[in-house]
Amino acid sequence: MDQSSASRTRKSTVAEALPEEKQAEFDPQGIHGRAGSRLLSPDITPKISSESLIKKNPSRKVLGIMRRCINEFSDGDVVDDVFLLADKQIRANRNAALYLLVELRDRTGSISARMWNVTEESQAHLQPGGLVQVKGKTQLYQGTLQLIATHIYHVAHDGFDMAEFLPRSNRDVSKLAVRLREILMTIEDPPLRALMECFLIDEKLMQNFELAPAGTKAHHAYQGGLIEHVVNMLEVAQRIADLYPDVNRELLLAGIFLHDIGKVRELSYENGFGYTDEGQLIGHMIIAIEMLSEKIRESIELTREPFPEETSIRLKHLIASHHGSYEFGSPRLPMTPEAIALHYIDNLDAKIHEFTRDINNDPNPQSTWTAFNARLDRKLFKGPKKTEANAVKPR
Ligand SMILES: [Fe+2]
Ligand SMILES: [Fe+2]
Repeated sequence: MDQSSASRTRKSTVAEALPEEKQAEFDPQGIHGRAGSRLLSPDITPKISSESLIKKNPSRKVLGIMRRCINEFSDGDVVDDVFLLADKQIRANRNAALYLLVELRDRTGSISARMWNVTEESQAHLQPGGLVQVKGKTQLYQGTLQLIATHIYHVAHDGFDMAEFLPRSNRDVSKLAVRLREILMTIEDPPLRALMECFLIDEKLMQNFELAPAGTKAHHAYQGGLIEHVVNMLEVAQRIADLYPDVNRELLLAGIFLHDIGKVRELSYENGFGYTDEGQLIGHMIIAIEMLSEKIRESIELTREPFPEETSIRLKHLIASHHGSYEFGSPRLPMTPEAIALHYIDNLDAKIHEFTRDINNDPNPQSTWTAFNARLDRKLFKGPKKTEANAVKPR
């Protein structure tokens, strides 16, 4: 695509098109100067720190009470703690007596708990997504740690830091945000760069981009998961771009950034993970295309230059085709080199994450295999039990 004539006349960045007071707001120290300033030079630490979004609570104090995390439990522990109720079922045993089966969660993991001899009515007040106080004892059953509860009752959310109950990325999200900007600011094509800047200066959007999971179950299903997934994909694209000179690297990077951006509105992720009404009804691809159209309009307003129609359509195609097949919800199959590259990079990052998570989190140390994963339609090989003698030294 020939954008050279537009490039010559176009203001080099969105920053230069902003009113002067606004430029100062994004470059408070004035370290990038007036002429030729770059709004989001890689060395500027983003104003929005993920630390303020994903509160750290190292003392794990909730309402003044020290709580023990799920990953600290071992066989025979007496438990009296607050958890997020992630799932709830009433089941019948062989004698037709009802029991309650729940999944409890905190930021370190999840554990299933059973409470014997219940009635539907007595447990009706327990709602998934709510907090519960649980008393009971842990027990190792067929290689899996579970909790046998004697009491489970609802507690109000007030006063609890919900970040304590939601899983979050192990990576430092503020560093991921810096890396995201660093890579996107290698884009030199003026219209595409200005468009990226329009997304990156949208503080509310970027707050959500740093907080959202990439999904609710399949992969990166934790706060900060979306940005972790996207930065990994950008790193992969950066490394392979030289091998495929006919793939437009800048378009691919922009497409990777935008492919799942609709998840900030498709999913809810502040008090538990789920789908918003908009997410259920429209889905993240259509939401992302809407967001893209809006930012293209903003970029045209700020730079007072037209946005190339071909770039707009190619970007929309990258979003619409990234799931790779009709079966997985893409309305179009990938039909450009950048689209097929994006689809495979997306799938590579998602699948490797799912494989390693299943292997690392498998609760049964006695088995060399994980439990069967229905989505992958297979169990995974963990390898022989690690002993001092056979442990593979990390490279
Ligand atoms: Fe997606
Ligand atoms: Fe993705």
